[in-house]
Amino acid sequence: MQDAKISRNPHYTFKYNLSSGRHGWLRLTPAYSVKLVEDILSELDYIPQCVLEPFSGTGTTELVCANKGIFSLALEINPFLVWFGNVKLKSFSQETIDNFLEIANTIVQKLENTEPAPLPPIHNIDRWWGKQQADFLAKLKTRIYQISDYKVQELLLVSFCRAVIEFSNAAFNHVSTSFRENNDTFFSMRIGKEFFLSICKMIAKSAEMSPKAISNLIQYDSRGIPSEYCNKYDTVITSPPYPNRISYIRELRPYMYWMDYLKIPEQASELDWKSIGGTWGKATSLLSTWKSANILPSYVHDITSSIAKADNHSAGLMANYVLRYFEDIYIHLKAVYAGLLSNGKVFYIIGNSNFYGISVPAERIYADLMTQIGFTNVDYQIVRKRNCNKHLYEFIITGEKT
Ligand SMILES: C[S@@+](CC[C@H](N)C(=O)[O-])C[C@H]1O[C@@H](n2cnc3c(N)ncnc32)[C@H](O)[C@@H]1O
Repeated sequence: MQDAKISRNPHYTFKYNLSSGRHGWLRLTPAYSVKLVEDILSELDYIPQCVLEPFSGTGTTELVCANKGIFSLALEINPFLVWFGNVKLKSFSQETIDNFLEIANTIVQKLENTEPAPLPPIHNIDRWWGKQQADFLAKLKTRIYQISDYKVQELLLVSFCRAVIEFSNAAFNHVSTSFRENNDTFFSMRIGKEFFLSICKMIAKSAEMSPKAISNLIQYDSRGIPSEYCNKYDTVITSPPYPNRISYIRELRPYMYWMDYLKIPEQASELDWKSIGGTWGKATSLLSTWKSANILPSYVHDITSSIAKADNHSAGLMANYVLRYFEDIYIHLKAVYAGLLSNGKVFYIIGNSNFYGISVPAERIYADLMTQIGFTNVDYQIVRKRNCNKHLYEFIITGEKT
């Protein structure tokens, strides 16, 4: 990584994970790559006692650590991701895995004679799934929720989530969601069953390899660190939301609605407002009246003043967005520093951004905030060029507590 050329380095994105066992269970665009975490760990001159991941997402950091026998603690604000991450980090006995495949087979055989669960209240559901696919998923859901062995049920639900996305017309292009034409005519109960069983087999195969260390992942807002985590971790490896208005809820909505984590759209916007960098629905209107606590270096205010003056009706809102983002990150970094063991190291993967041609140098701001808080040897370097724009990069920001 030291001499990373400024290339797109696709092995440092979520795409690398899709063929890496449990890491490939669900695709989430903002997930970072297994290889990146492995490289960070292998370049350390010590073996971590415990790694903290304060923005767990799909659990990449913890799973890499667990596979290497390194204990980890993790936080995530989104309850669906907390559930999903915890399943990914579990050990499953061969008996559970065999039962899972057997029950999956039984379920699909009974599917025609199943009362479908209510369809999820996601806006414009017909755009997401054709009628046949939605009916298939609704019947599958009924059957899965009847299974009493919870470990088997968890594996079925992960397979269900994978089917939810595979059977949908949605394509996630990082900044937007587009919909393919409805593929209802190519779908049948038989195709659905075969496909679902092939997903189950894939999940079963990767569930066989148990993690070698325990991870503790809880739902928590990482603007604080829970007291029971403090003075336990000597390394932080993470990729927080970037200051680029990407909403994690957007891509997670299909799973969250089908799994009943979202029942009404307001819940999505409430969760997004609580998330660092969230701008979905209600979050946008709340930002317009949000007031800065003036805790950031003055040059950050200069940048946001320039953004506010841009010739765009959302310019003021975006200026507030950037300020709120970095104020949240400042609060977060302070809490992380307080709980970090002496001689501990932190590694933050972060992207810079651009609003109306005005650059937001996230790497410099992170580095300055870390230094202001007390971290030493703060440094940053480019990990890769992001593919959307040649001035957008991913950086790794490092710091220590001496
Ligand atoms: C870039 S993603 C992390 C991706 C992760 N490294 C992976 O490989 O999947 C950032 C995550 O931070 C979470 N998040 C945002 N605000 C948070 C907060 N205040 N506390 C905890 N997690 C938060 C989001 O829900 C999202 O899952």
